[in-house]
Amino acid sequence: MDSYRKLLLANKAFVEDKISVDANFFRNSALDQKPEFMWIGCSDSRVPAEEVTGTQPGELFVHRNIANLVIHTDFNMLSVLQYAVEVLKVKHVIVCGHYGCGGVKNAMGRQNLGLINKWLRQIKDVYRLYSRELESMSDPVARFDRLVELNVMEQVQNLAETSIIQRAWNSEHRPEIHGWVYDMRTGYLKELARMQPGAKLDDIYMFELDEPAR
Ligand code: CO
Repeated sequence: MDSYRKLLLANKAFVEDKISVDANFFRNSALDQKPEFMWIGCSDSRVPAEEVTGTQPGELFVHRNIANLVIHTDFNMLSVLQYAVEVLKVKHVIVCGHYGCGGVKNAMGRQNLGLINKWLRQIKDVYRLYSRELESMSDPVARFDRLVELNVMEQVQNLAETSIIQRAWNSEHRPEIHGWVYDMRTGYLKELARMQPGAKLDDIYMFELDEPAR
């Protein structure tokens, strides 16, 4: 059997499983979505957002890219973020990295990967910001793990620096932004950072907003 066929077979089992619990599951989920959470994760196949969080279809609005980056010129990420925040009105945005991330690993080395170099250079910038702390660590695995964590925390900052988030904080006092890391070695998620609406940012990143503050 062609390997891809098992996906189509599994889909049939998925449908039967859902219908056996709730006959109207698909009819209802086709009507609307009201996810409370937006997830920004790595594309890595070992970090399936819904599975590791035990969420069902309709609960997570997902964006994934290599190394879970929030880059201010990425129209894909910004469009997902804007839709999640302004239309779906999510309450939480979660950036989730993972130990053993190939993107972070490559950014720590000198291997030339072509186009991906340009994407991963953002992580080199994170390394440079924290090089003193990272280079004080003699264990290479600990250093790699720490850069994964620092990368997540920088993406949390990057999110708060968008006008999309600042506008929502100002007018609706949401969403909270969370930085998590997934440990593929244990299956557990760990909370690294939590930013409440209105959290103080460096002044240079603050935008003037039309809406009245509240
Ligand atoms: Co990764």
